[in-house]
Amino acid sequence: MAFELPPLPYAYDALAPYMSAETLEFHHDKHHQAYVDNGNKLLQGSGLEGKSLEEIVKESYGKNQGLFNNAGQHYNHIHFWKWMKKGGGGKSLPGALQKAVDSDLGGYDKFRADFLNAGATQFGSGWAWLAVKNGKLEIMKTPNGENPLVQGATPILGVDVWEHSYYIDYRNARPKYLEAFVDNLINWEYVEELYSKAS
Ligand code: FE2
Repeated sequence: MAFELPPLPYAYDALAPYMSAETLEFHHDKHHQAYVDNGNKLLQGSGLEGKSLEEIVKESYGKNQGLFNNAGQHYNHIHFWKWMKKGGGGKSLPGALQKAVDSDLGGYDKFRADFLNAGATQFGSGWAWLAVKNGKLEIMKTPNGENPLVQGATPILGVDVWEHSYYIDYRNARPKYLEAFVDNLINWEYVEELYSKAS
């Protein structure tokens, strides 16, 4: 199926001051749009035209790098917009998710430290993740447009650490951006929704 840019699920200025309208205008309207447009061009003739986005991501991995890069980033960004909300972040996790964070990741504080560390130590462009693998939560990081789907896991939360996600608001201070994301932006209800589907 052809890729389409979904609208942002909130106003461009909804996430300020943690993520500015200018960042969202560039990131959503320019960067995500480019992944959609390039992905659609590369999908033509790939043999994967009739597949779902998840199938295209998994089946192009290691075989059709150009298509994988754009389809992967399309998948990652569709969720990234929904992984944030105004007034989000912090320790108020829905119950089932909180239990899993306690049992699989050593509690919220350890999750926070490990997730921030994964984002800060991803060298160059990429993503840090909370994913479900073999029924358990895991923190992961991936380069470029990759995501946990290609490692047999289901992503339930991800943060974009490409410079286009933070350079306007934070310049080179990636750790500050990551702290703002975790403490003020995460839409835990959406994370919980994906967690309940994955487990
Ligand atoms: Fe991005």
